[in-house]
Amino acid sequence: MRVAAFTGFTGPDDVAVLERDDPAPSAGEAVIDVEACSINRHDLWILEGDSAMVGTDELPFVSGLDVAGTVSEVGRDDATVVAGDRVVLCPNQTCGVCRYCREGPENLCERYSLFHGGLAERALVDVDRLVPLPDSVDATTAAAIPTAYMTAYHMLRRAETAPGDLVFVPGATGGVGVAAVQLVDVLGARSVGTTSSAAKAARLRDLGADHVIEASDPEEIATALGERSAPDAVLNHLGGEFTELGLDVMRRGGRMVICGRTAGDRSAFDVPRLFLSHQRIIGSTMGTQGDLERLVQLIAEGAFEPPVDATYPLEGTGTAFADMQRRDAFGKLVVRP
Ligand SMILES: NC(=O)c1ccc[n+]([C@@H]2O[C@H](COP(=O)([O-])OP(=O)(O)OC[C@H]3O[C@@H](n4cnc5c(N)ncnc54)[C@H](OP(=O)(O)O)[C@@H]3O)[C@@H](O)[C@H]2O)c1
Ligand SMILES: [Zn+2]
Repeated sequence: MRVAAFTGFTGPDDVAVLERDDPAPSAGEAVIDVEACSINRHDLWILEGDSAMVGTDELPFVSGLDVAGTVSEVGRDDATVVAGDRVVLCPNQTCGVCRYCREGPENLCERYSLFHGGLAERALVDVDRLVPLPDSVDATTAAAIPTAYMTAYHMLRRAETAPGDLVFVPGATGGVGVAAVQLVDVLGARSVGTTSSAAKAARLRDLGADHVIEASDPEEIATALGERSAPDAVLNHLGGEFTELGLDVMRRGGRMVICGRTAGDRSAFDVPRLFLSHQRIIGSTMGTQGDLERLVQLIAEGAFEPPVDATYPLEGTGTAFADMQRRDAFGKLVVRP
């Protein structure tokens, strides 16, 4: 089979299509013919050498978390799936025995890790992590869901988002950002999103964002936000100075959920102001398989549709990462091997 592998850690030029042996499933495993695999900033961190998760000894490395396709082989006949089933993979990998695996939620697992290997014609996966796809949900749409939408959905749950709440989403045009805006709407809340691009601002309005701020400077964003009521919650996947910004603009008692650090690993904020205004900062990573099942159901019911900005053949995987790196994308980018 062919795979799109990272052959180095300097960026999109280090993606090459290579030949690999076809995988053979053991008990508890299945092979999926990959129809679609979306990419995430997480893959780009690895490709840019900015992830502690993958070392040079693992090169060439096949990334890709968000896989959808058709089961072609199972390791044992009594598996919960059979060849021909259409599925999407939940990329969570958990130990199954720690306190958090027993008590939930599973994404707190002490040995939590992620599936990698979707940027390939075939993927070897755990049968227990497969979610069946209704006929109405195509593979490209399904591949757009797992990482971005599970993360955003779980963050909104952690933020205790209620109907009518105003949710601030800095950087609302990427995978997690677009997912957040769409799911805020599904939950009956209102969104205010930002982008640095006029073209993406227009698309954000078309998507149904309630307010759009076209700016990248935190002070400029704060001024624009000041004209409205203070947000009840902030979904922060940018980190860095957007953490201070979130705390500055959020209402008393507001909740800020953080899942990422695109704009920086460190934040400095006013501690007394945090406790005097009873605000909360909540860390959150990915979501649960139950979240993914719910999201598939919502899409099947027509509650929302993830926008896929572009699809690429396996040979175009490097181009997909270059598009993400240039901040050209709106929503998800999907490779179709
Ligand atoms: N902890 C978890 O479980 C988890 C899960 C998923 C993602 N994440 C993290 O969440 C972040 C977003 O992931 P993603 O896949 O959604 O990425 P993405 O699609 O590349 O996100 C693009 C968005 O980020 C904005 N952006 C990009 N670079 C920026 C910068 N330097 N300063 C300010 N804004 C910037 C873009 O704004 P413009 O519109 O202005 O271009 C756009 O709105 C990443 O840090 C990722 O690692 C974490
Ligand atoms: Zn565990």
